[in-house]
Amino acid sequence: MRASHLEDFYTFLRFPSVSTDADYSEKLNECAHWLVKKLNDVGLTAQLVPTPGHPIVWARNKHQKGRRTVLIYGHYDVQPPDPLELWESPPFEPVLKDGYVFARGATDNKGQILSHILGVQETIEQQGDLPVNLHFVIEGEEEIGSGNLGNFLSQNREALKCDVVVVSDTGMIARGVPTLGYGLRGITALEVKVTGPKIDLHSGVFGGAVANPVTALARLLATLHDRDGHVAIPGFYEQVKPLEDWEREAWKKLPIDADKEILKETGAPSLFGEAGYSTLERLWGRPTAEINGIGGGYQGMGTKTVIASHAMAKLTFRLVPNQKGEEILDLAKQHLRKNLPPGVTLELTDGHSGPWYLTDPHSAQSQAAQRALRKAFNADVAVIREGGSIPIVSEFRNILGVETLLLGLALPDCRAHSPNENFPLENLDAGIRMNKAVLQELAA
Ligand code: BES
Ligand code: ZN
Repeated sequence: MRASHLEDFYTFLRFPSVSTDADYSEKLNECAHWLVKKLNDVGLTAQLVPTPGHPIVWARNKHQKGRRTVLIYGHYDVQPPDPLELWESPPFEPVLKDGYVFARGATDNKGQILSHILGVQETIEQQGDLPVNLHFVIEGEEEIGSGNLGNFLSQNREALKCDVVVVSDTGMIARGVPTLGYGLRGITALEVKVTGPKIDLHSGVFGGAVANPVTALARLLATLHDRDGHVAIPGFYEQVKPLEDWEREAWKKLPIDADKEILKETGAPSLFGEAGYSTLERLWGRPTAEINGIGGGYQGMGTKTVIASHAMAKLTFRLVPNQKGEEILDLAKQHLRKNLPPGVTLELTDGHSGPWYLTDPHSAQSQAAQRALRKAFNADVAVIREGGSIPIVSEFRNILGVETLLLGLALPDCRAHSPNENFPLENLDAGIRMNKAVLQELAA
């Protein structure tokens, strides 16, 4: 690993580019400007594209007729680092420990997208040019739903014409096992607010005579699932495309003990999920309803005898083929309205959403990607679906008419979105090799 590569990585990681928090907007701007400069220095032509939200970074080499065109997508925004007290070193001061760089965004997505940039840099240095026409599109709003990227794609549809998209923002099933993703779950978010009395009340004076919003919310949320882990919203599974036999068989043969590893990584006392499915099937092929946050009433030290005026929860649903986000949201809202306990009112607010993605792992492009992965890692390739979501990937298909190759570099224990996120330098190197190999394979 060149010293300058590590320096670039550290500089990139030092920008606290937390997209969800308006206080960090200027930092996202600075990070985007740094990327523009880096991509120009590499020998590409880069520009900052302003949006109503955070800017998009767009770079390209000199395109030549008759060559394949590849679009590499990534994001420079990161999740909030909270809870800060659980970090062993500050989230935006990268440190190297035993070959792993620790910082927020190290894996998701700065290390992964940087490995592509450095791969391109090395190829241009060594060969003067790339084997393909290239676009880099690196956005600052992936972690908040990519709300402005679709417009950018539509407005620049002609200029962005390409043959395939390459994304490294997914996982490897284990260290050293190159992994091609052919599916992502979708997501749709919903905020729930339950209101009772107009003000917080004395629970002795009023308790028993008015409904408690926190109790009502707890009862309401409890109707989302049955005891076997199925989502209990009527119609929720109606559009779900069953897993193909070949997928179930292939996933059983993957060289990992998923149950054991997930128990270890999560520290959960046991696994739990929808009855009738294996862990990998639950993660990659089945939809979920999750409560991501819940609040209401007194949360300070000691006790407070109070009936809160309201209570709230934040929900997301992970979607699989062929569920439609809008329909699922409608079903969920109907279900919540119908099951609202007496004495409270309900307010539902839609959040961001993004569709699932499923492509053919046997296509010529997928096979080219698998050859590149094998070459970069010198190991057999695992072909999987993913549980996470990258909302824009389905738009690459809808707007640009191209498929996306998901070449993941995230390790199962990378701690993305969690404290002590990290990325091994081994994967930064592998990513550089992978970038060179995949551009070569896709050029042919
Ligand atoms: N890199 C992840 C997506 C991911 C993670 C895909 C693991 C496959 C495996 C991405 O940055 C992410 O976190 N996406 C969000 C999207 C949401 C905020 C709209 C997600 O999945 O929660
Ligand atoms: Zn993420």
